[in-house]
Amino acid sequence: MERKISPSLLAADFAQLGEQIRLVEGAGATRLHLDVMDGHFVPNLTFGPFIVEAIRRLATARLDVHLMITQPHRYFEQFVKAGADTVIIHYEASEDLRRDLAAIDKLGATPGVAINPDTAFDALLPYLDDFKYLLIMSVFPGFGGQTFIENTLETMRRAVAAREDHDYLIAVDGGVNLDTLERVYSTGIDLAIVGSGLFQAPDIPRRFRELQG
Ligand code: DX5
Ligand code: ZN
Repeated sequence: MERKISPSLLAADFAQLGEQIRLVEGAGATRLHLDVMDGHFVPNLTFGPFIVEAIRRLATARLDVHLMITQPHRYFEQFVKAGADTVIIHYEASEDLRRDLAAIDKLGATPGVAINPDTAFDALLPYLDDFKYLLIMSVFPGFGGQTFIENTLETMRRAVAAREDHDYLIAVDGGVNLDTLERVYSTGIDLAIVGSGLFQAPDIPRRFRELQG
């Protein structure tokens, strides 16, 4: 069975971003994962709409933009204008999740929600029709290259079971690599985000194909 893999550009070499995107798209990637960090919601800083816009010009894949920022609603319009196809906000960061997801939808992007490893899936039960993309964090957000947290597999199974009467894509983010991928996919999720497990490989297209199965 073919597994769907979405490269997380956080682990790419930004000095040759165009080339790295060309490699993963050439290997078959159709969705790129972009990590936006504000130094408040998470301790790390990355980039904002300006870089998303540059990546838009380098890529043909869908851009799934993972906002690890407080008060994310202040920036939806900028990220969508920059070329975000999916805007993913954190359950833990949004002041009004339903309002925020509706605002993303209204701007013409796919509304997505992310949950941290210590947030119970049940917190999302009132919102299952408000998002179309669910990002289950399998590490605490903020950094690439962390170790996969095993008990998030239970959240994945819950999300898959709860989807029966709803319509959302289930993605998993953090610590997914050749060692953990099989366990992640056995839960029935749709998409795995892979950063260091892909871009640190000596042969990136080959690793992409290995991950894809
Ligand atoms: C973590 C980010 C992830 C990260 C994944 O805060 O949301 O997308 O880039 O990187 P790896 O695959 O190295 O854990
Ligand atoms: Zn991410």
